[in-house]
Amino acid sequence: MTNPVPQTMGQQFGRRSWAEPWKIKMVEPLRVIGREERVKALDESGYNTFLLKSEDVYIDLLTDSGTSAMSDRQWAGMMLGDEAYAGSRNFYNLESAVQAHYGYKHVLPTHQGRGAEHLISRAGIKRGQYVPGNMYFTTTRLHQELAGGIFVDVIIDEAHDPQSMHPFKGDIDLDKLEALVKREGAEQIAYVSLAGTVNMAGGQPVSMANLKALRGLCDRHGIKIFLDATRMVENAFFIQEREPGYAGKPIADILKEFCGYTDGAWMSAKKDNLVNIGGWLAVNDWELFEELRNLVVVYEGLHTYGGLAGRDMEAMAIGIAESVKDDHVRARIGQVRYLGELLTDWNIPIVQPVGGHAIFLDARRFYPHIPQVQFPAQTLAAELYLDSGIRSMERGIASAGRNPKTGDHYYPKLELTRLTIPRRVYTQAHMDVVAESVKAVYDGRERTRGLEMVYEPRYLRFFQARFKRL
Ligand code: F0G
Repeated sequence: MTNPVPQTMGQQFGRRSWAEPWKIKMVEPLRVIGREERVKALDESGYNTFLLKSEDVYIDLLTDSGTSAMSDRQWAGMMLGDEAYAGSRNFYNLESAVQAHYGYKHVLPTHQGRGAEHLISRAGIKRGQYVPGNMYFTTTRLHQELAGGIFVDVIIDEAHDPQSMHPFKGDIDLDKLEALVKREGAEQIAYVSLAGTVNMAGGQPVSMANLKALRGLCDRHGIKIFLDATRMVENAFFIQEREPGYAGKPIADILKEFCGYTDGAWMSAKKDNLVNIGGWLAVNDWELFEELRNLVVVYEGLHTYGGLAGRDMEAMAIGIAESVKDDHVRARIGQVRYLGELLTDWNIPIVQPVGGHAIFLDARRFYPHIPQVQFPAQTLAAELYLDSGIRSMERGIASAGRNPKTGDHYYPKLELTRLTIPRRVYTQAHMDVVAESVKAVYDGRERTRGLEMVYEPRYLRFFQARFKRL
């Protein structure tokens, strides 16, 4: 049915054609500190890469969030900030860009993605309702839970298997969803929380066919679908690459078609939209919009700035238009895939197929001797930093947190360390350095011991937790 997953970008486009559609105009020098200093820095940060100082980091692959390089056009747009409290021209530019490229009717700016998640969760969830989704995301699920919702994972089983080569591991298992609706009743479902691509599964896409079928199911039961559009442009690339009928379609068209089957979206513009700060929330329903517009002034700012400066909204409006261009997305994912190919060639266990925004090292297979309660993925992130000063992020048991009812750890099937690639920032040679460092850590894996958590914050513990070497 669907096209097989291409193993390399070279296979599909020829090795050269993913080259970046831009050249570098301004550079930021990198600092490399010695091993002794790295040992000290890691110790002081409690073995948590979130607590490292950025100046102690060489290549920073902590996240692709807010870490992109803006274009000369975006920087020029920053100078056109209309810093009026109300009705800034830049808001209307942002509104038009979201309407043009995502297709939703009503748009609100927010300070970043979780601001939008907060509002949609408050407005869309009644206490005790279920929120089915294609795997959880940390901040998304927390806001759903704080609003009284109960998150239920309805992603296909393949998503939890790092070695499954399913081309659309972000798809929803419609049987799981149907069973939930049958068991609890449609009125007990707040909405479907659909993410494209799925961050925690490895940046895996959702197919258009799955969404169409989901729309059918939801229409039968009167359930709304809200989209986490944070990396939806990258999802559209995978549809173009893998789904029959989409090979010749521009990514911009695929994006708009996809959004057209949903009722609204929230966005962390710090990813796809190529800005350092910002987000938005957009819906089609006027009544819901009214409620959101009431909430935005309480928690974010007036509905025409939502916690952002005019210049931020201008950079976002320009970034949206740049982000949907085929050559941009191809180069972005081409670079991620380049790193994935190097690691695959060296038999290093990573999540396959390689997703949109990051390489996810499979810490279970990397450190089979470290049990999950000893934080293998956190350990791997620490080891990578020690080896080369490269910063990565844990996406395993520490990120998963605890079940609010029982207080037990969630034990996610996926225990991963994420090498997240910022957009338009690092070069191919940087990717070579990263691959070599992962290889060095892999070669020393048998001598590596796990960690113990010695400080645990109440919410989103992975950001500020502290660990000790066992
Ligand atoms: N949804 C997804 C899929 C995300 O990846 C993020 C953030 C958010 C929502 C929240 O957006 O950070 O702007 O408030 N992900 C970052 C990451 C933090 O590193 O993956 P935010």
